[in-house]
Amino acid sequence: MYNIPLLALVCGFLFSIYRFIVYPTFLSPLARIPNSHFTASFSPLWILWKRYRGAENKAIHDAHVKYGPIVRVGPNDIDVNCVEGGIKTIASFEKPNWYPNAFMNFGVTNMFSMTGSKQHSIRKRIISNIYSKSYLQSSDELHRIANIIIYTRYLPVLDSLAKARTSVDVHELNFAVTMDNITAYIFGLCNGSNFIQDIKARKHFLQDYHCRRPYQFYGQELPGLTKMLSRIGIRLVPKWSDEATQRVENFCLQMCNAARASIESNTTPSSENTPTVYKHLYHSLSPKSDQPPSSASPDSNLLIASEIFDHIAAGHETSGVALTYAIYSLSQHPTLQASLRAELLTLSPPIIYSPSSQTQTSLPSPRSIDTLPLLHAILMETLRLYAPIPGPQPRITPHTPASLANSLPLPPNIRVSAQAYSLHRNPTVFPSPENWDPSRWTSASKPELEEMNRWFWAFGSGGRMCVGSKFAMQEMKLLLATIYSGYRTSLVDASGIAMKDTYTSGPEGGRLIVRFEYASESAKS
Ligand code: HEM
Ligand SMILES: *[C@@H]1O[C@H](CO)[C@@H](O)[C@H](O)[C@H]1NC(C)=O
Ligand SMILES: *[C@@H]1O[C@H](CO)[C@@H](O)[C@H](O)[C@H]1NC(C)=O
Repeated sequence: MYNIPLLALVCGFLFSIYRFIVYPTFLSPLARIPNSHFTASFSPLWILWKRYRGAENKAIHDAHVKYGPIVRVGPNDIDVNCVEGGIKTIASFEKPNWYPNAFMNFGVTNMFSMTGSKQHSIRKRIISNIYSKSYLQSSDELHRIANIIIYTRYLPVLDSLAKARTSVDVHELNFAVTMDNITAYIFGLCNGSNFIQDIKARKHFLQDYHCRRPYQFYGQELPGLTKMLSRIGIRLVPKWSDEATQRVENFCLQMCNAARASIESNTTPSSENTPTVYKHLYHSLSPKSDQPPSSASPDSNLLIASEIFDHIAAGHETSGVALTYAIYSLSQHPTLQASLRAELLTLSPPIIYSPSSQTQTSLPSPRSIDTLPLLHAILMETLRLYAPIPGPQPRITPHTPASLANSLPLPPNIRVSAQAYSLHRNPTVFPSPENWDPSRWTSASKPELEEMNRWFWAFGSGGRMCVGSKFAMQEMKLLLATIYSGYRTSLVDASGIAMKDTYTSGPEGGRLIVRFEYASESAKS
């Protein structure tokens, strides 16, 4: 007598073995891709554990070093580390839900977290204009804002630090100045933040902003489980983390409301108080008055706020982190600081603080700062070795089968990522990749430089490349120029400076303590 239930059980068991182990490991088009870990072909647990522990970037990098430019990190999850058949091919792929799972604000998606290409390209066309290099360099608003921030807020702080020879957490100061600049551009100077001077408001915001990070993992990598558990009353993300999110969203919303009130009041603000970004989005994203408001689309105020929250978040954090590592690196190279200073003193006018002439002084043109070769090399080398977004940027394979790095054509819906951390450590393109060496950018031949730029991925590439890259470069250059024109920096306490192994990174210790000194006797005010 056959035991039917037993037979069914055995068949089911054998089928599962086939479906979940034999097929993915031996027969799937992904089977020929080397495994980062022997379980990777049939189980996502290994990579999930690395992600949970904050060890993913390094684990993927080690796999590339061992197995080459394409590795399998999970059953439907691969990582590429090359230009041809790598970042060039995935540049046109769509984003997976990994983005909206973690980067929606106010419950509404934005350009960064949108998945579909069509919707995204409409939004990108609207936004890229106001962040293009030509727009930024010729913006009277930004020039006024920079003058006021540099001469009335930032330099007085640097000067008092140099005068007193006290040490300071420059990481926090970097976040303050990048936040003041991006919010001034978005909302107008008087409706933006004043974190350089308002230390209490700055600390509150940064505390709220950063404390939520450890909990991002759940919603992003295990969205189903997180939702299911929350339905039965188990929170993986603590309540205080959600409350912190609400406070940082409110911080953004209040500035949005002030900017909207200023637009709707129909008065013309002075140049530096023009809410350039807000105004642009207000006119492009608000429902047209001849169209009836649709109940299906989100409130346009929240739509704009969600977009803007992202510019604030991406805009202050990444640039602040890069500045911290530039200062960290320069502080260990006093002679390079001297060479940089010599280059900076060729600017006209030079950026030198004098308390008496605050109001008349003006800054050198953005273009003249942009073309300084040593300053450029220092920043590029910092973004290479200390990419503020070093971690994997996931995409999904499209419906038409795509081949990557000589793989078989891959089926749709495979998660494929690349990471700046590994692209920037290719020793044939960047010899001795762990060395911070700006001269590699100034001494390279033309073909070498082209190759370095092809592998440089701090801002990503393709359709989803950073929209704020020009804004960030110009800002970071001005701020480094401001510091090193008049001051020298040295390390006081760099413990915890090692970078976190995360998607958006920064110093593990969340700080960098340095000392500012006058670069020369004559620079003393
Ligand atoms: C050093 C500074 C910065 C770095 C290193 C950086 C890096 C990046 C990277 C790597 C991406 C692609 C991420 C992905 O696809 O997973 C990105 C996208 C983006 N960044 Fe930045 N970013 C910086 C500054 C800024 C600034 C100042 C803004 C302000 C507007 C900004 C706004 C955005 C937006 C809106 C996107 C999404 C673009 C899209 O999906 O089309 N970023 N950034
Ligand atoms: C916002 O800016 C306008 C000038 O453009 C100013 O009149 C108004 O007081 C500001 N609002 C807040 C809340 O600071
Ligand atoms: C703010 O950013 C703009 C755009 O990149 C730049 O031109 C300006 O110099 C920056 N200002 C400050 C104070 O960083």
